[in-house]
Amino acid sequence: MHNDVDHDPMTDTTAAAAAPGLSVAVIGAGARSYIGRHVSAAREGARVVAVVDTTEIGRERGRQNFPDAAIYGDLSELIAAGGIQAAIVTTPDHTHEAIAVELLTAGIAVYLEKPLAIDLQGADRVLTTAAETGTPLYVGHNMRHSGVVRTMREIIERGEIGEVKAVWVRHFVGNGGDYYFKDWHADRSKTGTLLLQKASHDIDVVHYLASGYTRRVVGMGDLMVYGGITDRRDRSGETMPEWFSFDNWPPASQTGLNPVVDVEDVSMMMMTLDNGVQASYQQCHFTPDYWRNYTVIGTEGRLENFGDTAGGVVKVWNRRHEWQADGDVEYPIEGVASGHADADLLTMTEFLDHVIDGAPTVVSPIAAREAVAAGSLAAESLRSGSVPFTVPDLPDHVLEHFSRATTPAPERTSR
Ligand SMILES: NC(=O)c1ccc[n+]([C@@H]2O[C@H](COP(=O)([O-])OP(=O)(O)OC[C@H]3O[C@@H](n4cnc5c(N)ncnc54)[C@H](O)[C@@H]3O)[C@@H](O)[C@H]2O)c1
Repeated sequence: MHNDVDHDPMTDTTAAAAAPGLSVAVIGAGARSYIGRHVSAAREGARVVAVVDTTEIGRERGRQNFPDAAIYGDLSELIAAGGIQAAIVTTPDHTHEAIAVELLTAGIAVYLEKPLAIDLQGADRVLTTAAETGTPLYVGHNMRHSGVVRTMREIIERGEIGEVKAVWVRHFVGNGGDYYFKDWHADRSKTGTLLLQKASHDIDVVHYLASGYTRRVVGMGDLMVYGGITDRRDRSGETMPEWFSFDNWPPASQTGLNPVVDVEDVSMMMMTLDNGVQASYQQCHFTPDYWRNYTVIGTEGRLENFGDTAGGVVKVWNRRHEWQADGDVEYPIEGVASGHADADLLTMTEFLDHVIDGAPTVVSPIAAREAVAAGSLAAESLRSGSVPFTVPDLPDHVLEHFSRATTPAPERTSR
């Protein structure tokens, strides 16, 4: 990879070192790199001073989106230049492990996009590196900060449905064709499974709502629609917003799919958590609508969300009756009307406060690892005749490190 430093690294390093606050780099200037723009809003004095992307078109996006930043073509050049205290990693999933390990080893605090890694060994390597170097690690499970999840969690914490016993999630990924089947996301070697790329959010939320982690998992699924589309093309140089359209309907009429499409477009998994809670998650990438529906059943009621952004509602039924469309109690969902910009800002704030002040976090790397464990083992199960798998434990010293570094309760740091 050629050297593509737009600014004199020495000058930039000196400037970064002299600046008050925190000098931050964005690694991977693709569609998701816009979260780098939350840095200065999230924490006074923090700013993006460098961007790394291995492609020229990515570096050009970096120049446009972060005009004051130094641009690099390779992570090692950034590290060698010095002066960076934190990095936001928004590269494809299969690169997360190596990039995170390199940054952590260099003492640069890491905001790593989910999923933590594309398999359990990779996830454990990242956590072990963070524990052994002591460098702060944070994984961007922004959904914990979304209005719908906060509302559901608060209902449970107030005891309105009693003790949680079952969590069922239906995930209608209406944008799936555009989001996941037209670039690297469709390729198992880059994502492992959409049970990580997409479901790691929801598995984490299941764990959060149930206050437990998956111990045993089984999966079923198939590639049912997109595998039959033969119109394929390499979209290198484009990013998802350039091809996204609600007019791409019905799903079988989609064109320009990624040359490799070998991830499932329907995936289902069932989980037994360490506290006995029973959970299931279903994901379909060719529905007309795009949202997630959670049902949480406790010993004294159940809740269910309708819509997962502002305008939606979480309904609670906690009296005995037959079918009733209205909840016995209903809570409006706060936040943005679409997407998750509000949760993204809260997530970035949490990361920067953790790095600068050592503040505890709601999103722990252990939880991110447990989401990878459940999702990757569910995919292994569905690809091998639905055999059940048991999640292995993390080494004790890694668990102990993160139990000190993140919020001890209600987050669980050991099984
Ligand atoms: N938390 C969320 O809500 C959320 C939403 C969207 C995406 N994401 C995550 O963000 C990550 C990026 O997704 P995206 O849609 O932006 O992908 P993308 O393909 O649009 O962008 C990836 C960028 O990384 C660059 N890149 C690839 N390998 C690199 C390397 N080794 N070093 C530096 N740059 C490299 C590519 O050139 C590209 O510019 C994924 O892991 C995804 O799961 C999270």
